[in-house]
Amino acid sequence: MKKISIIGAGNVGAQVAFLATIKELGNIILVDVTEGIAKGKALDLQQATPLLQSSVKIQGTSDYQEIKDSDIVIVTAGVPRKPGMAREDLLATNAKIVKEVVSNVAKYAPQCILILVTNPLDEMVYLAKKISNFPKERILGMAGALDTARFQMFIAEELKCNPHDVLATVLGSHGDTMVPLPRFTTVNKKSITELMPENKLSGIIERTRNGGIEIVNYLKTGSAFFAPASAIIAMVESIIKDQKRTLPCCVELSGEYGYNHVLVGVPVVLGRKGVEKIIELPLNQEEKKLLAKTVEHVKSHYPDIDKLLR
Ligand code: APR
Repeated sequence: MKKISIIGAGNVGAQVAFLATIKELGNIILVDVTEGIAKGKALDLQQATPLLQSSVKIQGTSDYQEIKDSDIVIVTAGVPRKPGMAREDLLATNAKIVKEVVSNVAKYAPQCILILVTNPLDEMVYLAKKISNFPKERILGMAGALDTARFQMFIAEELKCNPHDVLATVLGSHGDTMVPLPRFTTVNKKSITELMPENKLSGIIERTRNGGIEIVNYLKTGSAFFAPASAIIAMVESIIKDQKRTLPCCVELSGEYGYNHVLVGVPVVLGRKGVEKIIELPLNQEEKKLLAKTVEHVKSHYPDIDKLLR
């Protein structure tokens, strides 16, 4: 059995643990600063295993020594948004939390593949990369898989088709500047630009960009967790089973798309080694401009993060 550690046993962390248990992806360590939350949810989940016919072992703790030799560590520790907040408003609070968490991951599980989930996502992956110094194959952020799923679902609803038949891609940061790519989004081999009028498409793109806040506004006290956890599990499953699925993830670019030393969402092949390949799509001028905007936006936060590290 592989060993999967989940840091932060809140809404997203617990749901990831539940799905990983159902799919028997590995034994699970749930870590939370509030020990009772980790222990209580781990015990509850363990008691579900006879019913789920899962042979996974789940343990809750606040002791980072327990994550030793993890194959994958998923960081969901941090505070979620409240209505009226942008993901960037979480930067100062969550950067402190992620700094502490990733220092512990680098100390106790230096060989793991590290997946960041805490928002603001792209900035947290940059911070984690700086702290851990993990090779770029083993550090990535979950956002694009979720944004793409939202895009696919809205398109399927509009076209009254099966979401599985929507092949979509979303590039860039997990925020207002994300770049859904209609030209590369097809249903039964036809581009959606041919399948729906311009105004419908731009409405769907806008709703995808605001996909997170739409849910925050309903929940009031927290943010989305079913779809985020499902996106994380798609990534984890592809890595553990060496499925080599292509999913958009936040990774470090080294020349791809013309950028260096920037961590932003692009399609990648995920396998046993982590990020096995970055897929470069042939973007047109307009798409390149949108990607440049999202890159600039993410990079504009790097000096603040660098300051936190001093
Ligand atoms: N170490 C470990 N766990 C921590 C720490 C820390 N330093 N600080 C906070 N936590 C834990 C909290 O105790 C809580 O159980 O992180 C958990 C976060 O859970 P929720 O508040 O339910 O938040 P959740 O919805 O899971 O979102 C977590 O993921 O999607 C993003 O924007 C979201 O940044 C947020 C993160």
